[in-house]
Amino acid sequence: MNKNKPNITEVVLRDGQQSLIATRMTLDDMKPILKSMDNVGFSSLEVWGGATYDCCLRFLNENPWDRLKVFKKSLKKTKLQMLIRGKNLVGYKQFDDSIISLFISNAVKHGIDIFRIFDSLNDINNIQSSIKFVNKAKKNSQGTICYTTSPIHNEDYWIKLAKDIEDCGAKSLAIKDMAGLLRPGVCFELVKRLKKNLNIPIHLHTHSTTGLSDATNYKAYEAGVDNIDTSISSFSNLYAHTATESFMSMIYDDNTCPYDMNLLSKISSYFQSIRPKYEQYEGSMRGVDIDMLINQVPGGMLSILEKQLTDLKKSNKLKMLIDEIPRIRKDIGYVPLVTPSSQIVGAQALMNVLDNKRYKTLNKEFIDLVDGSYGKIPGTVCSKLKRKIDKTKTINNEDTDKLTIQDYKKEFSNFCNSCHLKDYSNSETDLLNYILFKKESMDFYASNDRTTTNEVIGLQEGFGLYIND
Ligand code: CO
Repeated sequence: MNKNKPNITEVVLRDGQQSLIATRMTLDDMKPILKSMDNVGFSSLEVWGGATYDCCLRFLNENPWDRLKVFKKSLKKTKLQMLIRGKNLVGYKQFDDSIISLFISNAVKHGIDIFRIFDSLNDINNIQSSIKFVNKAKKNSQGTICYTTSPIHNEDYWIKLAKDIEDCGAKSLAIKDMAGLLRPGVCFELVKRLKKNLNIPIHLHTHSTTGLSDATNYKAYEAGVDNIDTSISSFSNLYAHTATESFMSMIYDDNTCPYDMNLLSKISSYFQSIRPKYEQYEGSMRGVDIDMLINQVPGGMLSILEKQLTDLKKSNKLKMLIDEIPRIRKDIGYVPLVTPSSQIVGAQALMNVLDNKRYKTLNKEFIDLVDGSYGKIPGTVCSKLKRKIDKTKTINNEDTDKLTIQDYKKEFSNFCNSCHLKDYSNSETDLLNYILFKKESMDFYASNDRTTTNEVIGLQEGFGLYIND
């Protein structure tokens, strides 16, 4: 593509549909359009991540690895990209290096070229080993800045973090702005400085929630960004991203545009035609949500919280819940809100609101987060809360299950036998399903006729796990 213009990553198959229809798009609905998407000339297609993996097993009765097999077969020209939650991989707890290595080698075998690796706390220790294993496989390890705003997050903070990520061996860098907080002018300065200080390509990923993304993406282009993430027009904006065709039209005129707009129009019409099937998963937002600039709740998180409150018949508490989130953030050192910190903070906010008292009930994951079990907290934890957590901590017995791959394999094999299933434990990808999502995998393998899951407790991204405790 044109040297002076950014490349474009199309995200509808992962983040576009995750942000707008709670990750419910089935593989069958993707298949008919893959060949067309492969012909556009995108630098990559984002196709896989934690939520897709989780939803495949939990809701869609799909083996997540089957998706990659289909993508690899249909997408011959375009690179496949996935999102990894650092040491948590696609799950919600930290795994050790042997499992990280097993996961990455299988993802590479199944066609993933670009691994965007992030940590919700921006703790470099949590992304290091994934970068190492991706480099070993000679694939693109993309380190990530999870962008947020707070009294401690300034330009110098981001530049230092980005340099550390480059020094760690990352082959590219992503600015991941999950809540659409990055303002155009701030983005321009940040990208300019990153381009000056780093040697690796810079990618920008921002959301439309606050209405800033079109301008922010454009300013990033002016500052020399290397790659922009967009979502096809019929799955764009609201909680999702700048529309692919709009962004192309911003940076090219009709005569110079290297992309086939008719082809893109065909792709968009296709996605438009399947969207009504997923109507029940659409959020309530109709335009732009400026409250997000104050509360900093990411799009995906907001749609989940809304659905959760509706299911609990407490929709009237949404405003209280949204207000509680930044208060908690301040108390716990301004962690960015992205999986798993977004779920943990969201679940604790829900507790505080439902209890009508702050921190009356403390979720185990919240205690662990504040206690540093998930990584280094960026700021300072409020001392009153810290004392309360320390007190609870002594009562809580730590369950550090450090199983080896062999232990998991034996456990999974026993499970298969007890259910009179064939022994799936010899397949590395089936074993990974079990290791990463034990309960969901047991349901998935045990039942060949799963109907609907209890959606109230089984909310997306493991949210229900915390509510159910
Ligand atoms: Co996103």
